[in-house]
Amino acid sequence: MNARFSPNAPELLRNPYPVYARYREADPVHWGIASMATLPGSWFLFRYQENAEVLSNSTLFVNDASSVGMEIEIPEAYKPIRHIHQRWLGGIDAPDHRRLRTIMAKAFTPRRVEALATRINDITVKLVDDALAQGDEVDIWSQIAFPMPMNVIGDALGVRPEDWGTFQQWAKDITDGVDRAGDIEAAKRGTDAILGMYAYFEDLIKERRAHPVDDLFNAMVTAADDTGSVMTEFDAISIATELGVAGHETTTNAISLSFAALLAEEGGWERTQEAFATTPDAVMEELLRFTAPVQRQRWRWAMEDTQIAGREIKRGDSVVSILGAANRDPAVFVDPDIIDFDRPAQKHLTFGLGTHFCLGSHLAKLELGTALRVMSARMPTMALAMNPDELPWNHNLMLPGPAGVPVVVAS
Ligand code: HEM
Repeated sequence: MNARFSPNAPELLRNPYPVYARYREADPVHWGIASMATLPGSWFLFRYQENAEVLSNSTLFVNDASSVGMEIEIPEAYKPIRHIHQRWLGGIDAPDHRRLRTIMAKAFTPRRVEALATRINDITVKLVDDALAQGDEVDIWSQIAFPMPMNVIGDALGVRPEDWGTFQQWAKDITDGVDRAGDIEAAKRGTDAILGMYAYFEDLIKERRAHPVDDLFNAMVTAADDTGSVMTEFDAISIATELGVAGHETTTNAISLSFAALLAEEGGWERTQEAFATTPDAVMEELLRFTAPVQRQRWRWAMEDTQIAGREIKRGDSVVSILGAANRDPAVFVDPDIIDFDRPAQKHLTFGLGTHFCLGSHLAKLELGTALRVMSARMPTMALAMNPDELPWNHNLMLPGPAGVPVVVAS
């Protein structure tokens, strides 16, 4: 295989899996074109094995280029928010990462997430009922899957309902800016959005001091690590902007990609409801494996000269984990392109692995599960209103997904 893989290739947008399969076969650890033009290239990983190895070795493969002593040239448009990005958990390494992640884990416990279940149910029921009240044509994406996670994370962080719309737009501008690292206009919009979100949370903290509320944001500001040290206000606000982004489109795509795939299949929604009634966890894990809403990492950086499956990796090289490719590796998942709810339990890499494993995985599963349950109760019979191959699609290659899933619901 001669062509260098590019994570920005438009052919990856709707169905990247045949391309992944070709590289997995011919050159599974591949020196391709980096998503950022200032880098000479990146190593792209197409098999499960190497993806799992790199993700779980955060000593050898770090998230912050400066840990390897490298100064990455970032576009001018990103400079005003560099200091905020540098506190995002996804962009830092130990010891800072360990300290902040410990505090966040205390604020974001499975118990606190579980306590959100009733609120998530109410939000979802209202969205579905509002959609159905307008008639039997529903757009699962714009009326349910897009607003639901934003309302949930906005609610948990104390964002006022009248500001949820602004937050949705900010979150979208930020993820587009991250995906299109070389696009100046996208970078500028992403930067403005982060600054907007930052200023919003700064005001919120002031308000909270005067009137404390027991929510996730408050838990973040007050939680401490084992030595008793708490997060600075700057760290808490920066990480809140990360949650506003990481907790939105990812889950939107998990829901809308699942429905797009299930409804494209004859009887797909019916067999899902049947399986969900008895084995809800197996259904969710399989949908998460299959959809891989975060298709790839941004990158990891090699701390030392090393080898991955016999390829020579130099200190400072960037390595990109392709989670979507790992989840479809036939060496690990038999018939990987089929949604099989009876598949033997096997860890997919949808939420990553190791020290940077998704902080919000419990919340994401609670949201996906709630969507499946509420929609099964209220929309047990429905059909796609258009050809599945023609569904509108968002132009984001890191978080690809539909921009509309119109269905007709049987009354
Ligand atoms: C289906 C939905 C979701 C998917 C597919 C997803 C996927 C991921 C992935 C792949 C990572 C990176 C793992 C790594 O680098 O090894 C990650 C990290 C992260 N996610 Fe999620 N995520 C989802 C939902 C959420 C939600 C709802 C939140 C919070 C509200 C969240 C917050 C985070 C944070 C803060 C990190 C950074 C963790 C760290 O670096 O320590 N995610 N997620």
